[in-house]
Amino acid sequence: MRNALNSGPVIRADELRKMLHRHNYRYYILDDPEVSDAEYDQLMRELIALETAYPELRRPDSPTQRVGAPPLEKFETVIHSIPMLSLDNAFDASEIIEFDARIRRFLSISGRIRYTAEPKLDGIAVELVYEKGKLTVASTRGDGIRGEQVTPNVKTIRSVPLVLSATEKTGFPSYLEVRGEVFIEKEKFKKLNEGRIKKGLPIFANPRNAAAGSLRQLDSRITAERPLDMFCYGIGNAPEFRFQSHWDALIGLQGFGFKINPHIRSGIELEEVLSFYIELGRVRHELPYEIDGMVVKVDNLEFQDRLGVKSRSPRWAIAYKFEAVQGTTRVREIDVQVGRTGALTPVAHLEPVNIGGVTVSRATLHNEDEILKKDIRIGDTVLVQRAGDVIPEIVKVIESGRTGEERIFSMPDSCPVCRSPAIRFEGEAARRCSNVSCPAQVKATVRHFASKGAFDIDGLGDKLVGQLVDNGHVRSYADLFRLNSELLKKLERMGGKSVENLVKAIEKSRTIELSRFIYALGIRHVGENVAGILSKRFRSIAGVSRASLEELSGIEGVGPTIAASIRAFFDNPKNREAIESMITTGVIITATHEINGGAFDGKTVVLTGVLERMTRSRAKIAIEKEGGKVGSVVTRRTDYLIAGDAPGSKLDRARELGVPILNETEFIKRLEGA
Ligand code: IVH
Repeated sequence: MRNALNSGPVIRADELRKMLHRHNYRYYILDDPEVSDAEYDQLMRELIALETAYPELRRPDSPTQRVGAPPLEKFETVIHSIPMLSLDNAFDASEIIEFDARIRRFLSISGRIRYTAEPKLDGIAVELVYEKGKLTVASTRGDGIRGEQVTPNVKTIRSVPLVLSATEKTGFPSYLEVRGEVFIEKEKFKKLNEGRIKKGLPIFANPRNAAAGSLRQLDSRITAERPLDMFCYGIGNAPEFRFQSHWDALIGLQGFGFKINPHIRSGIELEEVLSFYIELGRVRHELPYEIDGMVVKVDNLEFQDRLGVKSRSPRWAIAYKFEAVQGTTRVREIDVQVGRTGALTPVAHLEPVNIGGVTVSRATLHNEDEILKKDIRIGDTVLVQRAGDVIPEIVKVIESGRTGEERIFSMPDSCPVCRSPAIRFEGEAARRCSNVSCPAQVKATVRHFASKGAFDIDGLGDKLVGQLVDNGHVRSYADLFRLNSELLKKLERMGGKSVENLVKAIEKSRTIELSRFIYALGIRHVGENVAGILSKRFRSIAGVSRASLEELSGIEGVGPTIAASIRAFFDNPKNREAIESMITTGVIITATHEINGGAFDGKTVVLTGVLERMTRSRAKIAIEKEGGKVGSVVTRRTDYLIAGDAPGSKLDRARELGVPILNETEFIKRLEGA
């Protein structure tokens, strides 16, 4: 074997590890990368090659370990050196007022107590042990005393540092236990489940179960493929890591390279704790991950020590929970909807139930395998869950509620709308209507075509689309541009004013940016993001339609499945005709991306708070379209902070660093080029 000691490879491997750790940190923690993905991959490949050629250079803290290790037989048990406690719950303000009073009584303090309030992340608790700056053991909470050792799995999480970053001044403690929550973002959870549906695999009920299931894999290579993330919120045993306050400890952890939640308020008193809870409840659904409440912690660590712990929970902290987002109700009926791509989706009609302030009367059942797996029958009593903006879902059947009167549902083998055969292709979980002119498919396609991110035709609601398709006026989206006032006036509930407005809206929509146009076509797997990538790359619809499968699959963010779907779309003569006919009726497609001159060209922008006139994801798309990049943390390199309502700690940070701040009106003006 070649000996690598004290030679070039040792130095190079060391250099590569340092560079990769740094780039990883900039990408996953700061959301502010310095190199392209391709450059990162190149460095990673070089390190893998070196470690393969000289196995003695392999280190447990090497970034190459992120890909997972060979499977384990079973998990080892880890005894937590300090128990991982749980929290008492509070459900209304009076219980928080009582918590505060209790603390003051216990400490015999008449003055005010300062707290740190943080989102209560809905994931799974994990402890990380760092020895001499290196991650050596990671474990789950388990029963609080004993957990499972999941080190290889946790090493695959990109936001978990494998080595602590340290400045020359601070160095790092030789022993440090860090605690936090492993979770999966809502959007990534949705994609993960979509992928599983396609493969016919059972889906996860919620992001929390998906995170727990992914973390507890004996084969960490499976964990490596799951989009796990982690926020750290505290320390365990850390003899040399001493701070005065919980907040200082969090900042210290941030300095070592851990990801700390950006929506934390520190040094606040009781009243602000109560108002922050309301604020958090409002922004909650805008957050990319799920939270189920707020954790209130006494900030002063000496007070925390004095307050100590009860049997299972500390006296110095409490979880102030949001209202439950689950409820029980009964399935009245199950029917089947036909979507844009012809997929038949079973939907449960429920007896209306109030869940977390919203009346729920329908829940998606995904596909026939899901109904079978959960054994959902018409008439069943079920547990229903609402998570953020996602469509409510049935978690499980309450079997004790069965009377024997329930009816088993079976998926139809023909389309419920046009009666054409509904076919389930191999490898797919959904049955699809085989008729491309099926009125249900056409309606869904037209609705998508006219939606906000696409042609954005105001006044073209679901009912109107229904009438237009049923009367045969619209058979393909291109027909929308042939509508005129005479014809529209004949339709139900269309007065002179609505007709005039609709005609104007259609006229206005005729000029459209390329990326919106591509998105409007409703190509399977082509959402706003991919449409943006395609328009940037090809700059014309003809360019996209001519691109080969190889060319498309080679584009970052596209890949083989999407490429095949794009190719199949343009290979269908009907689709090409529809595009041509739109252009003949006067649709003008404009270029989306100016190489220079975008309102946020080359700028890094961070968003905070709630915007009134657009969602976060739309703001992000708008910024990217104007040449900017959206970061998640305010740093010295942030060019602008866009502050909506209830902005949170990012605003303070931006003020501290002198980062220019734009309110919503200023932001929109800039987007509009004013
Ligand atoms: S502190 C002794 N902070 O809540 C207190 N916990 O019921 C230790 N959790 O198992 C927990 N977000 O998994 C803390 N910001 C946060 C949290 C948080 C979520 C979870 C944690 C713990 C459970 C306690």
